[in-house]
Amino acid sequence: MNRRHFLLMSSAAFASMLTGRRAAAFTRATTENAEPRSMPLLFGADYYPDQTPENLWEQDAAAMAAMGITNVRIAEFAWGLMEPKEGNFDFKWLERAIGVLHAHHISIILGTPSAAPPPWLTEKYPEVLMVNDRGLQLSPGTRRFTCPTNATYRRLSLTIATEMAKAFSATPGVIGWQIDNEFTLGESGRCYCRFCRDGFQQWLRQKYGSLDALNQAWGTVFWSNIYSGFSQIPVPLPSGAPPNPAHALDYDRYQSFANVSFLREQLTMLRKQCPGHFITTNNVGAVDTLNMRDLYRDLDFVAADNYPGFLAIFAGGSGSGASIASQALAPTIAFTHDFMRCTKNGEPFLIMEQQTGKAGQPYFSPQPEPGQLRLWSYQAVAHGAMGINYFRWDTANFGAEQYWHGLLQHDRSPSPGFAEIRDTIRDLKSLGQDALTARCDAALALCYDNDSAWALTIQPGQPKLKYFDEIVSWYGSIASSHAGVDIVNASQGLSHYRVVCAPLMYIVSPEQAESIRAFVKAGGTFIAGFRLGVKDEHSRIVPTPLPGLLRDVMGIQLIDYQPIYSEKQGVQFTGLLAGSAADCHLWADILAPQSAEVLATYTTGAYVGKAAITSHNFGKGKAIYIGCHLEPADLARVLLTLIASVGVSNPIQPPPGVEITTRRTAKQAWTYLLNHTANPQSVDLAAAYVDARDRSPVSGTIHLDPYGVRVLMKT
Ligand code: GAL
Ligand code: ZN
Repeated sequence: MNRRHFLLMSSAAFASMLTGRRAAAFTRATTENAEPRSMPLLFGADYYPDQTPENLWEQDAAAMAAMGITNVRIAEFAWGLMEPKEGNFDFKWLERAIGVLHAHHISIILGTPSAAPPPWLTEKYPEVLMVNDRGLQLSPGTRRFTCPTNATYRRLSLTIATEMAKAFSATPGVIGWQIDNEFTLGESGRCYCRFCRDGFQQWLRQKYGSLDALNQAWGTVFWSNIYSGFSQIPVPLPSGAPPNPAHALDYDRYQSFANVSFLREQLTMLRKQCPGHFITTNNVGAVDTLNMRDLYRDLDFVAADNYPGFLAIFAGGSGSGASIASQALAPTIAFTHDFMRCTKNGEPFLIMEQQTGKAGQPYFSPQPEPGQLRLWSYQAVAHGAMGINYFRWDTANFGAEQYWHGLLQHDRSPSPGFAEIRDTIRDLKSLGQDALTARCDAALALCYDNDSAWALTIQPGQPKLKYFDEIVSWYGSIASSHAGVDIVNASQGLSHYRVVCAPLMYIVSPEQAESIRAFVKAGGTFIAGFRLGVKDEHSRIVPTPLPGLLRDVMGIQLIDYQPIYSEKQGVQFTGLLAGSAADCHLWADILAPQSAEVLATYTTGAYVGKAAITSHNFGKGKAIYIGCHLEPADLARVLLTLIASVGVSNPIQPPPGVEITTRRTAKQAWTYLLNHTANPQSVDLAAAYVDARDRSPVSGTIHLDPYGVRVLMKT
């Protein structure tokens, strides 16, 4: 499966949705001798001098400077030109390109080229090619076809990156690095080759220490899989039956580890060679094959690629630009931004690639409507971006991405979006560095955990149950409170949130249970979805009543659980949630309150009258269990009612399709109003503000143009 589709699968979950802290100077991450690093303004373009005749570089650089571009990202796919033969390096062309750009005051982010190894490499070392989850070796001739474990691929990737680093560590204009490009985002996100098998076996040896421990943890006595040597342990390729879930889950963890350790080899080298440069890597959001928190842990900041229109190709849009604005897409993109920001503790992130026009490989996305390119740029900033690079400067006349429109057209004339992006860059720069590095307000947290995501993909329980769909469906619901959402791991400190939500938290570790218990005890509201705490970290079902470790906090026990297929269950709400009845699809946990109050019951099936939703007062807080799978509109009503009941709301209540976020320093707040609809909208303000653009006073009712944006300041 093309990994991009992982992101897209969820859009349907929104289809019928109701849409209705502290100051931080940017600091370098947890590396030795960490010094606060103040970031330059980064409003740039992704540029390909390697694909552009040299006689055009000068006019390109001049045009970039004239449109206000501060920087470019270059060279991330230029391995073949930088090392035309093994061990023969040629950086002369790149030095000249950097020289031309720098002369126009354009800074340079260099990409290391390991995502696209040249043909001489795969011809000489065919063993570097990835093997997909059907056991088939990928073919070269594109990009992202290599194995993250393979020692030869690693050695050669590190060598070219080291030669680049040595060549450019002191080159004027070079300011930072992007390692590789979109880890795992190829046709196959995981590799199953013999090198990965060896690597997996080694990793297991380290993790478990002994075969006994592994056999015990995995329960290998089942189907007589007791291993008497680490060398016997296979990778989970197709076999006679589905894999042992513990085995498959550890393999997902190993593949994430392999990619992270691949990145770390280049990172360690770059820290040494280029101590003055920042270092990051780019990704498209929640990628199902990677623990992104691990990937970014020691990088300086998160970099994200943002292509709303690309999603429209697969989201069943009508093909017109307006369909990109569908209510489904704005929250999907918002989720991605919040996810990326929170991958690194909510620190400001960089958009490394942002759509500039029609986008696509075999297909074109719709042309964004006038205003949308600006809207999507502001939306990224509204969710915590500190800068934006537009993909790409020109449009390729050859290669696999001829359909991916840049700021210049195929004939190098300005694209339909050129002027809009030029003006957007000017306006975003004028917000100033404080606004661009301020923290995002978030009263709400949504738990996202790789273990639960992976374990549920291995054994969904009901074929239509998808972790990512549930996450984005819950995100869309709670985000429409406009109270701000952080995406967290439940084991981190939760005390500064008012409400923490945890859909499909299928695996609950003791640390996560403890953290949730402490959060509720201290007064927080925890809202869990069905399948809470079913499994431990070895993907074994807990040997206690469900919800396992969180029984006391939730104040319930499960009587039973039911996958739902063609039939549906009816659900009726009471108390706080009283309102029209709903259907329960896909899944029903049947709850027996121990000390909890009932907020909904099943009205059909074998468990008529049994609890579907409960609320439990625990310590100073509340723990709510939503046992039934609800359609997005019903889920939104339930979650918004619960959130409002604990006093969390935004004083501004915008019309559907208008999004609000706030970024804040100790001294100032910037509130972003984003109209994702093709119609003008009015918003009633609850207080007086100053318009960030012209500092004029703003209060009462304000108007937003179609796809319009306003940024309001308050001291
Ligand atoms: C990104 C990728 C770029 C380019 C772009 C358009 O995801 O990083 O290299 O492929 O998409 O497809
Ligand atoms: Zn491999």
